[in-house]
Amino acid sequence: MASTASAATRGSKTRSASAANGRTAARSAAAKTSNKATETGKATAKASEMTKASEMAKGAAGASTTKNAAARQRMAPSGQPSEMQEGLKELFTAMLKDIYYAEKQILKSLPKMAKAAKTEELKQGFEQHREETAGQIERLEKVFAAIGQKAKGEQCEAIQGILEEGKEVMEDFKGKPALDIGLCGAGKAVEHYEIARYSSLRTLAQHLGMKDAAKLIEANLAEEMKTDKLLDQCAQTVMLSKAV
Ligand SMILES: [Fe+2]
Repeated sequence: MASTASAATRGSKTRSASAANGRTAARSAAAKTSNKATETGKATAKASEMTKASEMAKGAAGASTTKNAAARQRMAPSGQPSEMQEGLKELFTAMLKDIYYAEKQILKSLPKMAKAAKTEELKQGFEQHREETAGQIERLEKVFAAIGQKAKGEQCEAIQGILEEGKEVMEDFKGKPALDIGLCGAGKAVEHYEIARYSSLRTLAQHLGMKDAAKLIEANLAEEMKTDKLLDQCAQTVMLSKAV
């Protein structure tokens, strides 16, 4: 019996030791897993931080690029973006070609209007303005030279239409008392077109620092404004004479 009890005790000790070893191994494995998980977590957090930092850096770089572009836009000597200055120069040249074409058409049209006019005052007014128009064309050629370009007109349908209306007045009112007053109106339409063009060109020339061009354009503008007033006076005179 004693031998059996001893064997049972030994068996119990062996099972106990084996169980203890098993628990130790399990704890060790759990600890390893836990450490691994911690390391993985740390690595993930680090990667996340690096991504955030990279995004922040990119954002900062983007903001910096935008800031630099804005600064470049503000850096033009005149205080305006250089792109804007280039656009205004282009616009000035386009409008200059437009009015140069218009003046040449007006130069051809004025003798016909002078010939059609019945009142001496109006006839002389158109003839005088024909001479002024020849001088205006010369001034425009100087403006072209000042900007280093060859004088060249660009076809303009607006002035063609205005001059076409003048022709219609000559045809529709031929031999009628209202003819000269109609011619004054047709002449004023031409002058107003020119005033609009010259005032815009003068403003552009002044803004772009083209002092000589601005003076030449201003001289043409003054003549157009004077002619517009003369046409008003002429129409008044004709109306009064017809009323009498
Ligand atoms: Fe003119």
